[in-house]
Amino acid sequence: MAVFTLQDILFSQGFGTRRVCAGLIQQGLVSVGGAVQSDTLAEFDTEGLQFTVQGVPWPYQERAYLMLHKPAGYECSQKPGMYPSIYSLLPGPLRTRGGGAAAGVQAVGRLDQDTTGLLLLSDDGKFIHRMSSPRHHVPKVYDVTTKHDIDATQVSRLLAGVVLDDSPVPVKAAAAEQAGTHRLLLTLTEGKYHQVKRMLAAVGNRVEGLHRSQIGSIQLTFELPERHWRWLTVDEVKALQASPSK
Ligand code: URA
Repeated sequence: MAVFTLQDILFSQGFGTRRVCAGLIQQGLVSVGGAVQSDTLAEFDTEGLQFTVQGVPWPYQERAYLMLHKPAGYECSQKPGMYPSIYSLLPGPLRTRGGGAAAGVQAVGRLDQDTTGLLLLSDDGKFIHRMSSPRHHVPKVYDVTTKHDIDATQVSRLLAGVVLDDSPVPVKAAAAEQAGTHRLLLTLTEGKYHQVKRMLAAVGNRVEGLHRSQIGSIQLTFELPERHWRWLTVDEVKALQASPSK
């Protein structure tokens, strides 16, 4: 059991400075269990706590773990150059929780501006490291549309390993399954810069469309439309943390 004041709870969840959080409560904008709260120092057990701020329901989360369906035309940077940032698709509290220089959730790895699909985000540094470190071999599945016909030689070369200029050893796909004349399901356990595009170029093809459909045990399904996000469940986070190699 962890008991905190309502003001501290809102502060920890990214609703602004303690003063701003106190103001939200005093203005009657915060409810717990359907009852409007006006006492900034009222105490609540955070275990399973649900509250509402300005009519928007919010679950208390000690650490935030979420998935986002990235649309094309967004950059995975906090300070994008040409396109809007994926962080603009998230509500403010997720971008500011924790405060300080590294405030808010961060994406686990990056997708190119024109790539769509599954992104995981968290404010748990250990989780981000585990999911993105090549040592942990968390598999990521990409649905690749190619410009030219895919042939068996290309598939076997991707599985055997291709030479990329930033890797001393050939880079291999963990799995490569042809799903059409121009469609390939490619599983990678690393996340090098433009890796799929460079691997396809190395076997003489070209990526025309790229969608990440799975990371470890988490699959992106039609239930989460483009531009939308949702919390990961406790079981999903546990499964990801236990992600076996390959
Ligand atoms: N590989 C790429 O080339 N681009 C991505 O966005 C992800 C993997």
